[in-house]
Amino acid sequence: MSVISPALHVRHAHRKDIERVNEMYREEYGDGYPYPLHPGMNGRGARIVAELEGEVVAFARVTEHAGHTGTFELGGMIVDPAHRRGGIASLMTDLRIMNVQTLDGHVAVAEPICSLSTRASQRNIDKHGFVSVGILPCKYPDLKPELLGDQAESVSLAVKAIDRDEAFDDRKLYLLAEHESLVASLVPGAVNLDRECARMRDPFPGIVRHEPVRGPRTVGSTFVDVPANWPDARATSAAIERDGFVFCAFLPRFGRTASGATFDAVRFVRTSRRRVRFEHIHVIDALAPLRSYLEERLGG
Ligand SMILES: CC(C)(COP(=O)(O)OP(=O)(O)OC[C@H]1O[C@@H](n2cnc3c(N)ncnc32)[C@H](O)[C@@H]1OP(=O)(O)O)[C@@H](O)C(=O)NCCC(=O)NCCS
Repeated sequence: MSVISPALHVRHAHRKDIERVNEMYREEYGDGYPYPLHPGMNGRGARIVAELEGEVVAFARVTEHAGHTGTFELGGMIVDPAHRRGGIASLMTDLRIMNVQTLDGHVAVAEPICSLSTRASQRNIDKHGFVSVGILPCKYPDLKPELLGDQAESVSLAVKAIDRDEAFDDRKLYLLAEHESLVASLVPGAVNLDRECARMRDPFPGIVRHEPVRGPRTVGSTFVDVPANWPDARATSAAIERDGFVFCAFLPRFGRTASGATFDAVRFVRTSRRRVRFEHIHVIDALAPLRSYLEERLGG
């Protein structure tokens, strides 16, 4: 266990902190970081810094997912390299989870990066009770070019239920056969694939497409979410696969129908490069089966 310096002071970020935080992002990622701070940022959530003897040494934020009321993303965590492994990220993660509770959030999500062999960020999120539910290959372009070259940074996807113990319900899932074992490997025991549960009353909501993040030089992957609790999900997933997409995540409780019912989805990826170099995709053990599955289909 790390002992936090008594001199550490965590507070809301101010406008005067912007340059220092962006400098930490530049040093870590190069000039391609897609979400630098800028004046006038607002929306529900919080932006916090940690200060030691008057110097800002860390930043992190909580933001509400656009279009997903009650779902908050923990993101942007960065700790000055001189102050790492001292418990700062862990403390700021505790504070952000409390912040989501205060805001009546029911789900927290995080996208810890995969390029570091230490898997530090994934481990930190795992330690705070998040469940890793996917890998998003090559999502963020033009980061760490000296390490990744022209391959975009990959992230894992992790979720935590805030309003109760379990991250998952037992709604019936209509998955393609080869995705069933992957989902079971991601959420062992949490999703009962054999149980007949009540059918959804609302009509199939249709897919959601996430356009690629565009960097100064290259573009990231495209993602598509298919609602998973309707029989139509299987044919839709098969059609998405014929279009060159590959299963990469299970999204528990991410969706809301028009009448407000919660549903689950599966996410598919189509990368903008022909072959993904998996030596840059380091994941915690829980994601090893999914990494192997993706490497077989996207690697080279
Ligand atoms: C990831 C990062 C935020 C961790 O910050 P930190 O203050 O050093 O982390 P902490 O000391 O609070 O450690 C919290 C947990 O993270 C994990 N962790 C942190 N550094 C680690 C490392 N070098 N190796 C393995 N695990 C590590 C551990 O699980 C640790 O818990 P433990 O000490 O009980 O084992 C920091 O390394 C960083 O800024 N990295 C570059 C940017 C980045 O990856 N940001 C996250 C973007 S998603």
